[in-house]
Amino acid sequence: MPHTPLSTAVHPPRVPAGLHLEPYDPRTAPDAFMTALAAFQTAQLHERQPDDPAIQPGQLAAQLRHLPPFVTLPGWVVRDGARVVAEANVALVNLDQNRHLAQVGLGVLASYRRQGLGRALLAQVTEAAHEADRRLLLLSSHARVPAGEAALRRAGATPGLSAQVNQLALTEVSHERLAQWATQGQARAQGHRLDLWEAELPGADLAAFAELTQVMNDQPLGDLDVEDSAMSTEQFREAEAHFQASGRQRVLAVARRTADHRLVGFTELTWHPARPAILAQGATGVRPEARGLGLGRWLKAAALQRALARNPEARFVRTENADTNAAMRRINEELGFRPYSTTTLWQLEVAQAQTYLAGAAAR
Ligand SMILES: CC(C)(COP(=O)(O)OP(=O)(O)OC[C@H]1O[C@@H](n2cnc3c(N)ncnc32)[C@H](O)[C@@H]1OP(=O)(O)O)[C@@H](O)C(=O)NCCC(=O)NCCS
Repeated sequence: MPHTPLSTAVHPPRVPAGLHLEPYDPRTAPDAFMTALAAFQTAQLHERQPDDPAIQPGQLAAQLRHLPPFVTLPGWVVRDGARVVAEANVALVNLDQNRHLAQVGLGVLASYRRQGLGRALLAQVTEAAHEADRRLLLLSSHARVPAGEAALRRAGATPGLSAQVNQLALTEVSHERLAQWATQGQARAQGHRLDLWEAELPGADLAAFAELTQVMNDQPLGDLDVEDSAMSTEQFREAEAHFQASGRQRVLAVARRTADHRLVGFTELTWHPARPAILAQGATGVRPEARGLGLGRWLKAAALQRALARNPEARFVRTENADTNAAMRRINEELGFRPYSTTTLWQLEVAQAQTYLAGAAAR
């Protein structure tokens, strides 16, 4: 999509001589660009998670080219020759809720830091957010890369939510415990059954499942200025089409009340065949009326058993849990998840970012 140029009269984006800052369109960028961007993103990833397999260009391209229509994602890179040395993007999600937010990804290769590239990219995303009438930027930092927090504090951002990245080494997982949780789940949650959905979502359940996922609005969000959100069935279908186009595999375990077939809980594990070592533990949610019956454990155990049967190359499972999410952390600890790293979500008012950037430009 064409990106409106930055109003350069106000904050000229200054990058050191020899480097080039340019916009890119994630939906149409060519393969060579995706290769350069994947190399950059792999370097960023390895700084915080050194054991992870590299990000594959094809995987990145599939992910970006098929973004759902309700997401606008302008992006910018800084290049040194053909090499991408810094990148930023801003997700403008056009649902009915959270129209005040702009979710920002921003990174600079370690050897190119402290030269103003982060600030030049922040100027781009701030301008795009402002033009889209968004007032709050959401950004994240990782404990293993302290430069992120330092730069965010400098710009005037405030921490909104801390989350632990937890990891389960599959060599240490107790298969007896998984089997026990499944058996206990069946016994305790009488009147419920589990289904496993592995390819497309069943059409007859799609609207009910979209509604069930709104239970995720119950997760603690700390000090984040974020509203509960809900997708229409059509938007949910579009998000699902994006998932299918991404090439990821999944096991979705869904709990149902047998009396009326109402969906009451779910958990999702996904992986990409090009990076089979990592299983990503996605959302897990159980409706309030069905909590305390052991469904959370049963769902997780059933999904993991099935994913391991389908993907024998899996080596670990990763998940992120808010520090304040006691229920989910307890289940994960019992399963053998251990803290791996921490992430923090930060909030930066667009007005504050503009003030910071104007001050820096005047220096
Ligand atoms: C955060 C990051 C993008 C900053 O990139 P950068 O090119 O080094 O940033 P800049 O040189 O433009 O510096 C911006 C400001 O932050 C300050 N800053 C940057 N790194 C810092 C550090 N390690 N310690 C203290 N201050 C720091 C700079 O002094 C500058 O302040 P100023 O405007 O008052 O002069 C980079 O460290 C990075 O890629 N980190 C990993 C990814 C990440 O954590 N992203 C967070 C989302 S923003």
